[in-house]
Amino acid sequence: MKTYRIAILGCRGRGTAAARAYHAHPRTEIVGLCDLVEERRDTLGDEVNVTARFADLDAMIRQTQPDIVAIPTGTEFHYDLCMRVLEHSVHIEVEKPMCVDLVQADAIIAKAEAKGVQVAVHHQGRVGASMQTIARAFNAGKIGELRYMYGSGKGYYGGYGLMNIGTHMLNNMLHFGKRCQNVVAQLTTGEQPITPKDVVPSPSGMGTIAGEYITATLQYEGNVTGTLLQHRFDKMDTNAYSMELYGSEGRLFWKSGGAWWLPTPHYVPDGTHDRWEALELIYPEHYDGRGSASEADYWFVEEYVNALDEGRAHECSGTEARHIIEMMMGIFESAAYGTGVNLPQADRRHPLLRWREEARLETPADMPRAYWEWLTLE
Ligand SMILES: NC(=O)c1ccc[n+]([C@@H]2O[C@H](COP(=O)([O-])OP(=O)(O)OC[C@H]3O[C@@H](n4cnc5c(N)ncnc54)[C@H](O)[C@@H]3O)[C@@H](O)[C@H]2O)c1
Repeated sequence: MKTYRIAILGCRGRGTAAARAYHAHPRTEIVGLCDLVEERRDTLGDEVNVTARFADLDAMIRQTQPDIVAIPTGTEFHYDLCMRVLEHSVHIEVEKPMCVDLVQADAIIAKAEAKGVQVAVHHQGRVGASMQTIARAFNAGKIGELRYMYGSGKGYYGGYGLMNIGTHMLNNMLHFGKRCQNVVAQLTTGEQPITPKDVVPSPSGMGTIAGEYITATLQYEGNVTGTLLQHRFDKMDTNAYSMELYGSEGRLFWKSGGAWWLPTPHYVPDGTHDRWEALELIYPEHYDGRGSASEADYWFVEEYVNALDEGRAHECSGTEARHIIEMMMGIFESAAYGTGVNLPQADRRHPLLRWREEARLETPADMPRAYWEWLTLE
């Protein structure tokens, strides 16, 4: 069995998480690390025992000949780094969101296709233990026919929450909804529907956003609908980050680190009918929970190994990620223009920038990159 050679480009928070999973997996070997900051590549190199450390990504790829390059860097760098790494004809995985608009997403996918390589986007929740468990229960028919889905964020400012957390949730929902055909959304800032003046640069380099509160309805194939909430809360609430599937015969509830089943579609919440059952989580056979790799990052690696073995795309592929960006841009466009948006949209430009331009407003002024500073200013 082939051992896949891995290079990590970016050695801070998410690079460390990725490296721990690739280091732990028996079918992958980290052959090179790259960071502009020497201390970061040394800290990670010492932890995962890799001596091939680089400041220049092209030199790393040339010298270490990886099969996969992981790109866990700030979102504003994803597009340029993906394009530069793909030039070397290697498979990539990039942190979420893949990039910040559809023009970029199309270019990344076209480049990967031209080079004959795969793009995976690090939506580890889509393949982690909770999702494996929910998917198995769903496929076993435990909730009958899917009727609708509900997903929420953690309480970030809506537009930023959409790009940051909504991207994970839309990917989770896509596992069951398959394809989204139409989006209708309501976005408000200061309790009023958004105007072109509410279009701002996102914190953390996630492109252009609008909306403090987002409520979106997604129409999937087969008469399935989904509701996505990205509402700003005064205090962050990570427990709100959850998904529920409503079927003809029951419900499934997903949270990072847990999965539950309710064997009836409706119950009166009077304290006597609460029959939610916790489902036993599914881990890869060789995963050792005592190590430093998170189970979901490990599952993500497991899926990449299986996908490359089988010559197919990763479940969190670039084309899935592009469809998620179509949904996110559709949500912005729907609220801006007050209309439903059919997907995939023909105009690939960022709808909020187009909207502002049509209102004869200049490109939005710069804002702080750090979220809490950004929020104070906004
Ligand atoms: N999947 C998840 O659960 C999850 C969680 C948090 C953040 N994220 C995503 O992860 C990304 C941010 O990751 P992070 O917090 O580790 O970022 P970070 O900015 O803390 O670290 C990125 C590292 O990459 C290095 N780097 C950047 N450009 C480089 C280049 N050209 N050459 C070499 N090194 C370079 C930087 O020096 C830095 O050390 C964002 O896209 C964010 O959305 C994902």
